[in-house]
Amino acid sequence: MTPDMSVAVVGLGYVGLPLAIAFAEAGLQVQGIDASDERIATLAARHSPVDDISDERLGRALDGSLRLATQRDAAVEDADAVFVCVPTPINATKDPDLGPVLAAATFLCDRVRPGQLLVLQSTTYPGTTAGPFRAVIEGGGLVAGTDFDLAYAPERVNPGDPASAARAVPRLVGGLTPGATTRAAALLRRINDRVVELSSPDAAELAKLLENVFRNVNIAFVNQLALLCERMDLDVWEVIDAASTKPFGFMRFTPGPGVGGHCIPVDPYYLSWRAREFDFVDRFVELAGDINLAMPRHVVDLAADALNDRGRALNGARVGIVGVAFKPDVRDDRNSPAAAVIAGLAARGAEVAFHDPHVPAFTDADGVARDGMPLEGLLDWAELVLVLVAHRAVDWDLVYGRAALVVDTVNSSTGRGTGDRQVLRLGAGWSHASTGR
Ligand SMILES: NC(=O)c1ccc[n+]([C@@H]2O[C@H](COP(=O)([O-])OP(=O)(O)OC[C@H]3O[C@@H](n4cnc5c(N)ncnc54)[C@H](O)[C@@H]3O)[C@@H](O)[C@H]2O)c1
Repeated sequence: MTPDMSVAVVGLGYVGLPLAIAFAEAGLQVQGIDASDERIATLAARHSPVDDISDERLGRALDGSLRLATQRDAAVEDADAVFVCVPTPINATKDPDLGPVLAAATFLCDRVRPGQLLVLQSTTYPGTTAGPFRAVIEGGGLVAGTDFDLAYAPERVNPGDPASAARAVPRLVGGLTPGATTRAAALLRRINDRVVELSSPDAAELAKLLENVFRNVNIAFVNQLALLCERMDLDVWEVIDAASTKPFGFMRFTPGPGVGGHCIPVDPYYLSWRAREFDFVDRFVELAGDINLAMPRHVVDLAADALNDRGRALNGARVGIVGVAFKPDVRDDRNSPAAAVIAGLAARGAEVAFHDPHVPAFTDADGVARDGMPLEGLLDWAELVLVLVAHRAVDWDLVYGRAALVVDTVNSSTGRGTGDRQVLRLGAGWSHASTGR
């Protein structure tokens, strides 16, 4: 089948690579462009750096209509539409860093040609597409809405959950003009069953932030409930399981050592920063950030409490971490709360080692890099095992069968752990052999 349309995807990470492959699988000609030559070389070697995209699927796309290009050999002008999927991080003071988005716009401004459709897909604050992104591109001389179409279409991919990237997941799109919205929506319908058209890029940008702030606020809420349960000698996991039996009006969130990944700890600050420009303090965002950022310190305190129970100090103790990725069953360790936990333990004099079946090496929040250990070696070495992520690939019976002392922050111990006061659980206190708790 000869491709009837051509798209370029700028930024081939967790979001851009699945998008490029989806378009290639839908029969479009696709140019995958990245600023990192290393990333292009990795992909050209048919190695997928992204969970949920297998090497085989990448290989099939490369055998089909997906072509890779560095920024030097990209031919953006050949594309009918260009999608921008570059990172949107925050800086040290937690303000938005539009550097990569504006760098991509700078790359495009001399290359955009009349009649093209440009779609920003990175998560960002309302006003980015129609404001700074548009301004930099128009610096090349063409005018959005007149010479080229411009739209914003956020992504809902959830690493580790392949269903989140399926056709059935609806997509949102808002264009600078009604024509841009219609055009971008028609293109996205080649890879998505349902595309919801919004009145503006700003509305689509805010809808995406609402989705992620919703998660951050609710995670903070259950994290706070976990702290309360520890004081009340109640089991937060039992309480959440009980509430989750309600078939309507309740959505299950679970506590943990903090939030991580590219989105949940970052995106809320895009909203609060933008809100301040309107003399508005988004107190939910600030409060949720405060609570979630404090969780790694609380976990360090739990480790100290567990050792104290054995008459031991954290200072000088050997602490073995299980799981450093930002969530279960992924290799993505960006902004993982494990970084702050490990740095916090080390700052209080502990020796720290880790095992993660998906992450071979990990750098803590103080910049100290460590290689992972095999699980059995870690269990033999550690006097305290601290569970931060419940990967399915970990042999949990081995962990709880062998470790004498465990701090469990993610409820991996339910149904395991036999000894009295063997396991100190976040949000629940010590396990008791007599009650099974
Ligand atoms: N990871 C997720 O689960 C997820 C989900 C929804 C939305 N998002 C959003 O999508 C955007 C991209 O996130 P990601 O997770 O795919 O990031 P990523 O770090 O996995 O990938 C980004 C890619 O862009 C490349 N890049 C950086 N600057 C560039 C530039 N100026 N020109 C060309 N390429 C450039 C990088 O080399 C990298 O390969 C972010 O705004 C993020 O918030 C991410």
